[in-house]
Amino acid sequence: MNSIQQLFSLEGQTALVTGGTRGIGQAMALALAEAGADILLVQRDASNQTTKTAIESLGRKATIYTADLSSPPSLSTLVPTILADGHRISILLNCGGIQRRHPAHEFPSADWDAVLQVNLSAVFTLCRDVGAHMLAQPARLPGARRGAVVNVASLLSFQGGITVPAYAASKGGVAQLTKALSNEWAGKGISVNAIAPGYVATEMNAALMEDPERAAGILARIPAGRWGAPEDFKGAVVYLASQASAYVSGEVLTVDGGWMGR
Ligand SMILES: NC(=O)c1ccc[n+]([C@@H]2O[C@H](COP(=O)([O-])OP(=O)(O)OC[C@H]3O[C@@H](n4cnc5c(N)ncnc54)[C@H](OP(=O)(O)O)[C@@H]3O)[C@@H](O)[C@H]2O)c1
Repeated sequence: MNSIQQLFSLEGQTALVTGGTRGIGQAMALALAEAGADILLVQRDASNQTTKTAIESLGRKATIYTADLSSPPSLSTLVPTILADGHRISILLNCGGIQRRHPAHEFPSADWDAVLQVNLSAVFTLCRDVGAHMLAQPARLPGARRGAVVNVASLLSFQGGITVPAYAASKGGVAQLTKALSNEWAGKGISVNAIAPGYVATEMNAALMEDPERAAGILARIPAGRWGAPEDFKGAVVYLASQASAYVSGEVLTVDGGWMGR
């Protein structure tokens, strides 16, 4: 391996990934595995084996741990269980997320609570529990680091969106949480960054893609001239998980076909 390949290599490392069953999280999990990492997949249940099988076919290990990001009790036992099994987590990727759309004046409280729990509180809980574990490890990763946290934010970390106030609030929170954790942990060898995807063609955006007027309006504003695809996130996640980004922390990296520059 030449030195640039070494900078991006995740060989010998283990990543804990939420949201890896499909969409952006699946592509990111496979990218981490392609870069050499073994993957611990956090799923609601083990019925979806697609990502696990794809990781194994790359020659990496994949283990499914079941937990529901919408359930604080379920999350509270997740990291202790993983650590009791002997895993050492060096990368945390928080990609699980949900969307709920209603006009703000009639937004149901239950949907507000659900979105804030999955998109923000679960991210905090896993950052806290995995961060504590990373801090307790010797700084033996390449570059004398202890770990890397990558959260998935959104363009709605910066913008308000339309009929998605809970999502915008949660993703604004993810960006601020990322910076807050970076301030405490960057000096201890743990980088904390976020990736803010633009408009990506996944199930989460089915309602937008099925609305011809909104879909056309969105497309017209993307300088790259196309919606994003899950594969567009492979490079960014490997960069932020690896030694290549060792001096990058507290950053929210937009991967949006140029949207935010417009
Ligand atoms: N698509 C976009 O344009 C876009 C833009 C900006 C940000 N993002 C963010 O990118 C991330 C991935 O989005 P995506 O478009 O790939 O979404 P997606 O295709 O809808 O996938 C969502 C993922 O989250 C998991 N998940 C949701 N609720 C869960 C729960 N309670 N417990 C465990 N897992 C749960 C899903 O698991 P199941 O398969 O079990 O449902 C799935 O793996 C999200 O954080 C999203 O907010 C997306």
